[in-house]
Amino acid sequence: MSAPSVAVSVEGLTKAFGSIRALDGVSLTVGAGEIYGLLGPNGAGKTTLIRSLVGLITVDTGTVTVLGRRLPDRAVLAEIGYMPQSPALYADLTVEENVRFFAAVHGLDRPAAARSTADALEFVDLSPRRRSVVATLSGGMRQRVSLACALVHRPRLLLLDEPTVGVDPQLRAELWRRFTTMSGEGTTIIVSSHVMDEAERCGRLGLVRFGRMLAEGTSAELRRLAGVERLEDAFLVLSESRP
Ligand SMILES: Nc1ncnc2c1ncn2[C@@H]1O[C@H](COP(=O)(O)OP(=O)(O)OP(=O)(O)O)[C@@H](O)[C@H]1O
Ligand SMILES: [Mg+2]
Repeated sequence: MSAPSVAVSVEGLTKAFGSIRALDGVSLTVGAGEIYGLLGPNGAGKTTLIRSLVGLITVDTGTVTVLGRRLPDRAVLAEIGYMPQSPALYADLTVEENVRFFAAVHGLDRPAAARSTADALEFVDLSPRRRSVVATLSGGMRQRVSLACALVHRPRLLLLDEPTVGVDPQLRAELWRRFTTMSGEGTTIIVSSHVMDEAERCGRLGLVRFGRMLAEGTSAELRRLAGVERLEDAFLVLSESRP
């Protein structure tokens, strides 16, 4: 079997904010169509790593290659969907207007934008609320609009920073089924999470702490490495054992 093509390749990434070493030599390779989960405590560097993959921060050292292009590269942005940890939406616009705006930013013409917006809203189960002004939505609903904005242009690489925080369990399970389908169709997904049942759904996991990659592997591999049965315990054991 031939090796899957590489979607993301990160080598020796460092980034300091003053005296804080947010990334301290992270390397990572993610294959096309993989769902790769980033786990790690608050402040571990997950968001900083994800932002570096969109070119939103300038790293100090190291290289980032996304879909065969070395960053910085504006052209590759069209292939990336990014859902930030805190939704960045226009509160005074409707749900539909927000998603359509992102479609337009990515260069979709009006008919394509209208179609893709409808599909994205269907994906996050918000079609009935499409005419609601974002400011009037619940927190979980805003999170879902943000997800729709990230995937409206059907990106080849989806970067999701804690996408299901505040989303109810039923829809969370449904979204994960849809992520799995997307990955089966070739979309690469990198997702950060603190939720262990979500982590179990990732093909591979990277455990980040102090800006370093402490351990990597499937859930089964990490549990075996830590000598425990539950992923949550593996996470605790591996975090403690490698300061
Ligand atoms: N723009 C910034 N300016 C200063 N410090 C920053 C900035 N962005 C991140 N940091 C610091 O870098 C470290 C890593 O932060 P990051 O947001 O990447 O963590 P995280 O793993 O995403 O955490 P969480 O689980 O809480 O989202 C933290 O100490 C944070 O305070
Ligand atoms: Mg974060």
